[in-house]
Amino acid sequence: MLLQVLGTAAGGGLPQWNCACPGCAGARAHPRRRRLHASLAVRADERRWYLVGATPDIGEQIERCSHLHPGPGPRDSPVAGVVLTDAELDHTLGLARLREADRFEILATEPVRGALLGRLRIGETLAPYTRVTWRELGTDAVPLAAGATVDVSAVPVAAKRPRYAAGTGPDAPTWAVALRLHERATGRTLLYAPALAHWNEDFEQAAEDADVVIVDGTFWDDDEPARAGVSARTARSMGHLPIDGPNGTARRLAALRARCLYTHLNNTNPLTDPDAQQHAQLAGSGLEVAADGMVIEL
Ligand code: MLT
Ligand code: MN
Ligand code: ZN
Repeated sequence: MLLQVLGTAAGGGLPQWNCACPGCAGARAHPRRRRLHASLAVRADERRWYLVGATPDIGEQIERCSHLHPGPGPRDSPVAGVVLTDAELDHTLGLARLREADRFEILATEPVRGALLGRLRIGETLAPYTRVTWRELGTDAVPLAAGATVDVSAVPVAAKRPRYAAGTGPDAPTWAVALRLHERATGRTLLYAPALAHWNEDFEQAAEDADVVIVDGTFWDDDEPARAGVSARTARSMGHLPIDGPNGTARRLAALRARCLYTHLNNTNPLTDPDAQQHAQLAGSGLEVAADGMVIEL
């Protein structure tokens, strides 16, 4: 299986346009510290690639990834569709930028589709421009594209819905899911969870089975949002398990056989500074921080 990391930042990106925190200031001063919004490109077969998430940076992300460039015909694109882990704006606003496509496909869980159609009106907005086909993303594996050798399935990880979708339908465990991408030919599996509110039993099972795990690294610890002065809430109450601490994700990841990388770093996260001592702490546990542009073959 072949994939490329298109971005590794949480909502707002790094730097965030209205933020003067040390992480954002550092990224302004040192362009190599910049991170685009968290997203992946995954090869479904020889011709077709799927984006995981459609971020506000989608145009730049496609340009930076040569696998996604158009050709040989003037409007041929290898981008066949988008798989959504959730309906958050940082993972969905880019859908509108795909309007120049002839057609594209969106794989999403039922509540995510409902929010995008009912609240963001993405269906009505895109209909005059392009043909969008929806496919339901569930816990049973389905081919990423018809005839593709990579299968995709969802592992529910959060009942937390986006703020713009407050009051739409009942609570569902599938508002945010981890994606399990499994290539039949090689038997290799990727688990991708940019938003992880609960390390539940199904997630543990999927993580134990996976060869590569790319997981929510939004906050270093539970108090980071309050300490940084951006929110009075804890990381957990915002739907993101912290990395560090007795019940942080680092300890659990370190126990897996998989190669494990963090993504979706908030701009307040000390890991946004390449010189931070937290990098050595993770490396000591065999854990990595994903970088924009990283190619992973598994
Ligand atoms: C999240 O990751 O929790 C969301 O993207 C938050 C947001 O951007 O509103
Ligand atoms: Mn986010
Ligand atoms: Zn900032």
